[in-house]
Amino acid sequence: MRAMVRTAVFPVAGRGTRFLPATKASPKEMLPIVDKPLIQYAVEEALDAGVTKLVFVTGSSKRAIEDHFDTDSELENALSAAGKTELLDSIKGIVPPGVTCIYIRQGEPLGLGHAVLCARPAVGNEPFYVHLADDLIAGEPPCLTQMAVEYEKRGGSVIAVEEVPEQDTSSYGIVAVDQSDNNRIRQIVEKPAPAEAPSRLAVVGRYLLAPEIFDKLVTTGRGAGGEIQLTDAIADLLTASPVYAYSFSGERYDCGSKLGYLKATVAYGLGHAETGDEFLAYLHELID
Ligand code: UTP
Repeated sequence: MRAMVRTAVFPVAGRGTRFLPATKASPKEMLPIVDKPLIQYAVEEALDAGVTKLVFVTGSSKRAIEDHFDTDSELENALSAAGKTELLDSIKGIVPPGVTCIYIRQGEPLGLGHAVLCARPAVGNEPFYVHLADDLIAGEPPCLTQMAVEYEKRGGSVIAVEEVPEQDTSSYGIVAVDQSDNNRIRQIVEKPAPAEAPSRLAVVGRYLLAPEIFDKLVTTGRGAGGEIQLTDAIADLLTASPVYAYSFSGERYDCGSKLGYLKATVAYGLGHAETGDEFLAYLHELID
């Protein structure tokens, strides 16, 4: 049996330019979907997969994330005194006992690959998850847990993929896989134009990576957009150690884009115990 993956890395140092001005002074990952920030959905998914070490790679204007996962005794006392036990429970159980939060600063936003490399001292020589909170995935079981099962079968590294329309390949890392070898990735290209894309299988924001990726990241130069790309380091890893593409089951919402964020808000609002029925009635009213 393989050792359980215990560490999740959350790169949250991007500038979130597609969401300006909302992201000028607050992190994109703190945008709420109904009543929880994106980063809390991310942490809950990692905890479900058995993670006990949460590593946040943060940048400027990201203090709110640290505060969110910290204890707020003043608020807890106030809610307790007011008898608001449900609300109290909702803020107390965010990080369960035995789970550690580590914050590492990425001095400059030099790209996702650079952000992951910044996490190296906290990860050590073990496999780890990378979770991009702005890719919200509604899945049962949650996506990282599905990937843990895949990893248990195959080892190596596992990357979540989804088929995208041809015209969208230039927004993603695109992979070519060997279907006769459990979808082992043969090629990975960052943001190819549709004519150059080796397939329509796009990498989404969930990775389970072997620690060998760190040595590759050290030597990966700047790629697309002048940034150090995780995709380029994965391309270097392919020959050294197997990397498998995993088509998860579930619905993904690209909450880094305005439209994706709105779609997620509607889906989660309809599924929420408190808002679902009235929200549905309201949407019917709007359509009529
Ligand atoms: P994105 O490509 O979505 O970039 O990064 P972004 O800066 O967050 O958003 P836009 O495109 O400007 O609107 C993908 C993930 O990588 C992280 C981001 O926080 C996001 O989770 N990232 C990106 C870093 O942590 N550091 C970086 O230097 C770049």
